Amino acid sequence: MKQTAIAPANIAFIKYWGTVDPSSRVPANNSISMNLSEMYTQTTVEFLPEYTSDKITFLGENEVRQKEKDRIANALHRVRKLAKSTLFAKIITRNTFPKATGISSSASGFASLATAAFGALGYPIGEKELSIFCRTLSGGSCRSIPDGFVEWEKGTGPTDSFAHQLYPSNYWNICDVVAVVSKTIKKVSSTDGHAKAYTSPFYESRMKGMDDKVMRLKDAMQKKDFNGFGSILEAEALNMHAICMTSVPPILYWEPPTVAVMRSVQKWREEKQLACYFTIDAGPTVHVICEKANAQTVAQLLRHLLDIQSVVVNNPAPGAHIVSTHLF
Ligand code: PMV
Repeated sequence: MKQTAIAPANIAFIKYWGTVDPSSRVPANNSISMNLSEMYTQTTVEFLPEYTSDKITFLGENEVRQKEKDRIANALHRVRKLAKSTLFAKIITRNTFPKATGISSSASGFASLATAAFGALGYPIGEKELSIFCRTLSGGSCRSIPDGFVEWEKGTGPTDSFAHQLYPSNYWNICDVVAVVSKTIKKVSSTDGHAKAYTSPFYESRMKGMDDKVMRLKDAMQKKDFNGFGSILEAEALNMHAICMTSVPPILYWEPPTVAVMRSVQKWREEKQLACYFTIDAGPTVHVICEKANAQTVAQLLRHLLDIQSVVVNNPAPGAHIVSTHLF
């Protein structure tokens, strides 16, 4: 009745921004991501008859918002319902990175919680069903289930929108060098951001180009055309943030060091011929994508910039899985 799971955060090369069905988090477009080796959540869940309520502990977190607690309570309720259990659980969870700063902590958090909870109740759930389940808890967490490089299909509705593997983690030696620029929790959650996306006057034009962009990115991945791939993902990040900035009311996730990293990456490309490209999720953190051969150079350059709190080099990683090291 006790299991522990690890689930990776993932970085989106093509972003999920806006839903067609907010309640079940069916996205407006397909998105593509890579799982991160060093940024993950580990969660231990134990169900026992003697527990009289769910008790969750977040290791190393000072601030746990009520909204977060409610989402977890809802997730556990839904796991129990599916597994036909009435037992309460003790849960301990930890992140290897700061949450709510643009490193998809809800993706890794909910993917690890669901994987451990179903495992602890002995409920057999396949990858597709688990991905669909996680999508309803926190959209992007459906992409933390399969291994490696992943596409989340928008599908036609709640029952067929899920993520599947495009390539295993050893397909391509590329890295996400993450520059953490702030540990302050962002003011606007991605859930609220998704709900406002359609208020941007540019939203419709973003959506028109989406299928073509997904196709072009997949083509570059298939050919391992790194510069083609990088140009698409960098332009995509700017496109998504243009929607955020022009939503009503506007959302600006960037901090001054975010812009400094963006400018530096473009300068390194021009002046040093260093093939690296940035992308940014819903937060100030910048993800610099490069080939593994350049990862240490990029990391060193980032460490020399002002106001960078930490730099972490991530390889492509497996999806959510059960491990034998419990947190209690
Ligand atoms: O899964 P959510 O609701 O946290 O939304 C994720 C939104 C972005 O990180 C900005 C883009 C993405 O596809 O991950």
